[in-house]
Formats: sequence, C-alpha cells, structure tokens
Amino acid sequence: MAYLRPAVLLLAIIILSFVILGRGSGNAAGAASTDRGKYIVDGVAKCAECHTPRDEEGKLLESEYLRGAAISVDAPPYPNLHWATKAPNIAGLPGYADEEGVRLLTKGINRNGSAPNPPMPQYRMTREDARAVVAYLKSLE
Ligand code: HEC
Repeated sequence: MAYLRPAVLLLAIIILSFVILGRGSGNAAGAASTDRGKYIVDGVAKCAECHTPRDEEGKLLESEYLRGAAISVDAPPYPNLHWATKAPNIAGLPGYADEEGVRLLTKGINRNGSAPNPPMPQYRMTREDARAVVAYLKSLE
C-alpha cells in the first residue's frame, strides 16, 4: 500500500489548489466586473454626459458624478416624441434590483415595463456587460 501514498498526496494537492484557485478567481471576478462596469459607463456608454450635472461652463461636476441632471439639449422637432428633460440619479442605481438593471441595459425596458424616453439610449448590452455596469453603479454611494 505504500506506493499509494504519493498518489494520495498528489490528489490532495490537486484538490486543494482547485479550492484555493477557485476562491481567488471568485474575488478577482468580482473586482474585474466592477472595473469593466466602470470602463463601459465612463469610456463607452458615457452615462455621465447626461446623468451628471454641469457647472456654468458646461463642465461635468465630478462631485455630483451620476447623481442626476437636467437635460440641456432641446427636443428635436419630431411629432409624438416624448423628450425627457431630466436624467435621474443612478449612483447606487436606486430603486433597481440587479435583474431589473440588467433588463434595462440588455432590452431597453425599465422597471415599470416600458422604454425610458429619449435621449436615454436603448442599450443592447450583453448580459455580462450589463451585469458589470449594474455591479459598478451599485458600488457607488
Ligand atoms: C444621452 C443621454 C443619456 C445617456 C448617455 C444615458 N442616459 Fe440614462 N437616462 C437619460 C434620461 C433623459 C433619462 C430619463 C428618461 C425618462 O424620463 O423616461 C434616463 C433614465 C435612466 C434610468 C432610469 C430609467 C427608468 O425609466 O426607470 C436609468 C437606470 C439610466 N438612465 C441609466 C443609464 C446608464 C447606466 C447609462 C449608461 C450606460 C445611461 N443611463 C446613459 C439620459 C441618458
């Protein structure tokens, strides 16, 4: 039976390293998805352009990042267009459960079951990207 010992030891090491690596990558995945969410929000979808208020010179107020803002662009002259004049606070994504946020960003349907008015874009993100954006927004105060 002595010849079995190295095999058992090897097996134990393999199992242990899966457990340790599994735990490690779990943490990394959480941080990575928040990072990706920030990248999409700030670098790609530019949510702050509408959801952050501006100073008198039109510069975004960093201290009010994503806290809701007036839309300072007039509605285009199309009939039956319901142009929104305000973009709500989305820091922390108040009022939205994770899955509702994912639906908004993948299908363009808000938590009341309708499409938000323009100029809010109807995003068609992948689920993975939408989850990353939701995780990032929820990580904000
Ligand atoms: C071009 C301007 C613009 C951009 C860019 C924009 N939004 Fe909006 N957003 C709005 C406006 C305006 C509303 C309000 C719509 C309404 O009143 O129906 C809104 C509404 C919302 C709502 C509330 C929806 C509802 O009806 O409950 C959420 C959540 C939201 N935006 C998230 C985001 C996120 C996340 C991004 C970036 C990924 C983003 N928005 C980018 C303009 C914008």
